[in-house]
Amino acid sequence: MSENLVWDVDRIRADFPIFDRTPHIYLDNAATTHKPASVIKAITDFYEMHNANVHRGIYHLGSAASQRYAEARSTVADFIGAQASEIIFTAGCTDSINLVAFGLIDNKLSEGDTIVCLASEHHANLVPWQEVARRNNVQLKILHLTDLLDLDLTQAYSFIDRNTKLVAIAHTSNVTGARYPIEEVIAHSHKMGAMVLVDAAQALLSESVNVQDLGADFLAFSGHKMLGPTGCGVLYGRPEHLEQMQAIRFGGDMIRRVEYDQSTFAAAPRRFEAGTPPIAAVIGLAKAVDYINRVGVKAIADHSKALTVAAQELLTEEGFAVLGRPKHRGPILSFSHSRIHPHDLASILDERGIAIRAGHHCAQPFLKHLGLMATARVSFSLYNTHAEIESLGEGLRHAKALLL
Ligand SMILES: Cc1ncc(COP(=O)(O)O)c(C=O)c1O
Repeated sequence: MSENLVWDVDRIRADFPIFDRTPHIYLDNAATTHKPASVIKAITDFYEMHNANVHRGIYHLGSAASQRYAEARSTVADFIGAQASEIIFTAGCTDSINLVAFGLIDNKLSEGDTIVCLASEHHANLVPWQEVARRNNVQLKILHLTDLLDLDLTQAYSFIDRNTKLVAIAHTSNVTGARYPIEEVIAHSHKMGAMVLVDAAQALLSESVNVQDLGADFLAFSGHKMLGPTGCGVLYGRPEHLEQMQAIRFGGDMIRRVEYDQSTFAAAPRRFEAGTPPIAAVIGLAKAVDYINRVGVKAIADHSKALTVAAQELLTEEGFAVLGRPKHRGPILSFSHSRIHPHDLASILDERGIAIRAGHHCAQPFLKHLGLMATARVSFSLYNTHAEIESLGEGLRHAKALLL
């Protein structure tokens, strides 16, 4: 959809069969997004018409499957301004981060080195680094946020120093929606000789991300949070790092030559994709990218932003405290009420067909640091509507009438 056209949310919603089959208001897009018909069809078409393994059969179906898989890699690479050889298909964002942690950083640390994580990181971008730090007896330093739950660059500049080997930072927080100033963090980290892994799980529908402009060493994300299927994710890595990175899973398809007593391994990205990959999911992810490109990342981002602003006003008016006031925010809002438990709120809204998230959002230490056990969270995507926010408002008032 061109930027000049009026956003036609009904047309968008018609692309998502789940709204027809299971009417509901879906405000948990940070957990996973719904899938357009074109993605679902690409997956069923693969199984119904094109099913074969990749990189094996020399028969027609086999080579066509290999070609589709390779084309999907190029589609994903183009989407983030990378080369196909820099794209590794993984099981998801968590898997991508684990690959960097145990395939590269685990072998690179020596005494006195440190790893830096932001306080608000998802467990996926915290626990692997804890484990790597523990194994190597190095310090994992936690960079805390300001009172507004934003990143203070002056503090970051003094925190990330010449001992820092790697900085693990989310592009956008899945808890507060804060869009962190990662460009500045990357530039400073590189000056200090540190690598940066950007967790882009919440990024790719809220702005267009170009790895060349960003300059990150690694970018990790999941297909299922960007209209694609579950079961596949992506790790982008700069070629010089991929060359050094070792496989953490071994077996077929990642080898060059195998003897009984030893093996040699393929170049990236094949070295990191042992065994049969999630072929149909990868093809589905490429279709999701096609869909996003057709609609336009900016148009999606603008629409989601408008909904986020409206929801923030609503929540404040209804007496809920929205977590954090970052300078820039993606389409995610966590909120709480001193006298309403988030789980009660989520259950009451669920009875009205409104799906919101309640919990620690896989950021337990962050919430604990803020003195919270759980929050409620709403997150928006291209198919959400202002009418749904009005329904959310009615639901909140109903919950207050029941609980207060
Ligand atoms: C910021 C962030 N990072 C990482 C992940 C982990 O993604 P996955 O469970 O798809 O591996 C999530 C999922 O919610 C997330 O929001």
